[in-house]
Amino acid sequence: MSQKQALITGSVVAASHEAHLGTGHIVHASVLDGLATLEDESVQCIVTSPPYWGLRDYGVAGQIGAEPFLPQYIDALVAVFDDCRRVLANDGVFWLNVGDGYTSGGRTWRQADKKLNARGMDYRPDTPEGMKPKDLMGVPWMLAFALREAGWYLRTDIVWNKPNANPESVRDRPTRSHEFVFMFTKSLKYSYDVDATIEPSDDGKKTRRKRSVWNVNTEPYGEAHFAVFPTKLVEPCILASSKPGDVVLDPFFGSGTVGQVARNNGRNFVGIELNDEYVEIAKRRLHQRSGGYDVKITKP
Ligand SMILES: C[S@@+](CC[C@H](N)C(=O)[O-])C[C@H]1O[C@@H](n2cnc3c(N)ncnc32)[C@H](O)[C@@H]1O
Repeated sequence: MSQKQALITGSVVAASHEAHLGTGHIVHASVLDGLATLEDESVQCIVTSPPYWGLRDYGVAGQIGAEPFLPQYIDALVAVFDDCRRVLANDGVFWLNVGDGYTSGGRTWRQADKKLNARGMDYRPDTPEGMKPKDLMGVPWMLAFALREAGWYLRTDIVWNKPNANPESVRDRPTRSHEFVFMFTKSLKYSYDVDATIEPSDDGKKTRRKRSVWNVNTEPYGEAHFAVFPTKLVEPCILASSKPGDVVLDPFFGSGTVGQVARNNGRNFVGIELNDEYVEIAKRRLHQRSGGYDVKITKP
């Protein structure tokens, strides 16, 4: 059955990963220290979701996302992604998911969530200059423009629509049910396999090239206390912008979703993570089905 037929009939299209044994590398370090251990142009594709600003306390010194002022957060990420550009192949692609938020409206502290302890912050950043209480901050686009300014090619925004989004308690605006994923490249010309991510048409009778609104349910990962990537969000990014045997990098590795998708599709991976607990989670997750796939952990 061809890939197109399989999509139309709803069969799962499995990549030829069973035959390919690769390597994974978790670097247990702060992101800039971890990146410093990687060679120039040594990865083909980057997929990542950095901590959102002012949303969660990951409880580790040096964490990104806890900066008191929004411009500091943007600057910190631009510096991180500058070094990511160094390690990315010249024809490589960088996929970035980053969440937005509302100004605090004068509140200074948020109670820990019953389900998500990491959500509690012992401070809440002031309303950024130029914004008012209740304003949507527009953090993803601020970061996207800053990265474009820093030299990245901003190729597209993708709307990640979450059909199973949580209800919100607010009654004076629509419930937010989407986030953005940005696709950046290092160069004008780059490697992108448009046929690797064909999708069924709306009536299911044909296929078409993947569009820029992706419907993907959120997927909790048992052990993690924070927002993990759904595997279905990561997969098209990796399939379109790398080949089996290439190296995929996630500089904010968390529970290791990018590693899992890379491994299951015959790619190698490098993940950088600061938090001891999450390194352990990722290690357990990636050792579960490694069958010859070699995963090493280093601490520079
Ligand atoms: C949104 S989570 C990533 C979740 C990941 N995509 C997954 O699927 O599990 C962001 C991660 O960045 C890590 N982090 C925060 N600051 C960091 C830093 N300075 N260096 C490395 N990792 C950091 C946090 O510990 C957290 O695991």
